[in-house]
Amino acid sequence: MALFPKPAEGSWTQHYPDVGTGPVSYQDCISPEFYEAEREAVFKQAWLNVGRVEDVADKGRYFTKEIEVANTSLIIVRDLEGQVRAFHNICRHRGNKLVWNDIPSAETSGSCRAFTCKYHAWRYSLDGSLTFVQQEGEFFDLEKADYGLVPVHCDVWAGFIFVNLAKEPPTTLTEFLGSMITDLAGYPFEEMPERYDFSADIDCNWKVFLDAFQEYYHVPSLHTQEATPDARPQMMKGFEAPHYQLDGPHRMVSTSSVPRRLWPANFQYPIEMETRSGLFGPWNEPDLGGELSGTNPGRIKAWAADNFQIFPNLEILIWASGWYLVYRYWPTSHNTHRFEGTLFFPPAKTASDRAAQECAVVMFKEFALQDAGTLVGTQQGLDALGDSSDFPLNDQELLVRHFHKSVADWVANYQGSGVNA
Ligand code: FES
Ligand SMILES: [Fe+2]
Repeated sequence: MALFPKPAEGSWTQHYPDVGTGPVSYQDCISPEFYEAEREAVFKQAWLNVGRVEDVADKGRYFTKEIEVANTSLIIVRDLEGQVRAFHNICRHRGNKLVWNDIPSAETSGSCRAFTCKYHAWRYSLDGSLTFVQQEGEFFDLEKADYGLVPVHCDVWAGFIFVNLAKEPPTTLTEFLGSMITDLAGYPFEEMPERYDFSADIDCNWKVFLDAFQEYYHVPSLHTQEATPDARPQMMKGFEAPHYQLDGPHRMVSTSSVPRRLWPANFQYPIEMETRSGLFGPWNEPDLGGELSGTNPGRIKAWAADNFQIFPNLEILIWASGWYLVYRYWPTSHNTHRFEGTLFFPPAKTASDRAAQECAVVMFKEFALQDAGTLVGTQQGLDALGDSSDFPLNDQELLVRHFHKSVADWVANYQGSGVNA
């Protein structure tokens, strides 16, 4: 991993001249036409993370994923050979949705040896082959081999399951991710199967919420409660992240914090003191064995967290204290999206480990709600401003600037050439 020290002169933003320094338009968050363009150019071209291998830990385990932005539902399954596969969740007889439980639009998961359509009972093996047709003799020249489930490109990196909805993805998954992300492959994600999942339907464009997690400029003012009253004056002087890095359409920012031995002085809720845990996770870090591969690429001192933003809609937030978070932002229209947040921890070994994890989860929810609380008003404001929605972004908002440019570039590129890489 090459080191990327803070530029000796100028700003982080000027270090990446392609992103520019002018005001940034948020037309891309209010325009139904741009949303239609994004659907084709971004969400049907980029590799999309839909889950983790722990979701399909055993042969026969499956889950479904609704991807409204691509107008489809997918089945992700580990077949009897152990391969993770993805298919459109559509029966080849007459298009019935194949896998669902009580509500056809709701996601579901489980374990099975075959998928059976609820409509006329056609049956498919876990590798997608059509294996049974009710009253097959009444069809005309039906070749079952021609009517398997429609596959979707699917690949796994570091336990993250990605799909690509293009007929022919222009790049492999590892080419798409690039070295800044693939350097993380040795990080012990698999040692953290203990998880807490949240999702929320939010009335704003997916990029508006994603932006809230791409800069820490807002932390001192929006998250004032993060500091004890004594520490607030210091906090209000402002925040600086010590490292930013861009790589293709992906980006990351690292943060540092006070030394961990001083942490208790920075927490203010009694429950944090009792459980020895807070927003930054449990204080007693698990032993993850050695260097945390690919993390802290800037080699900053007092490293606290890495926030990797993987194009288009995935964030992996790795905490120095031995746990990680995943966020996904799934557009459902030009001004709505579904947010998913999952916290991953190593298995709790004691009751106090569990209490510490659960306190971290509660604190996460509190802070996520502080971020989410601004969103509907922001979308309303963007809609009201319309064409005038150009905003000045500062050096700490480099990732915001780069994100909107990356989406715009993908749309322009696709409209010019019909493919994206
Ligand atoms: S639509 Fe599935 S069996 Fe008829
Ligand atoms: Fe925030």
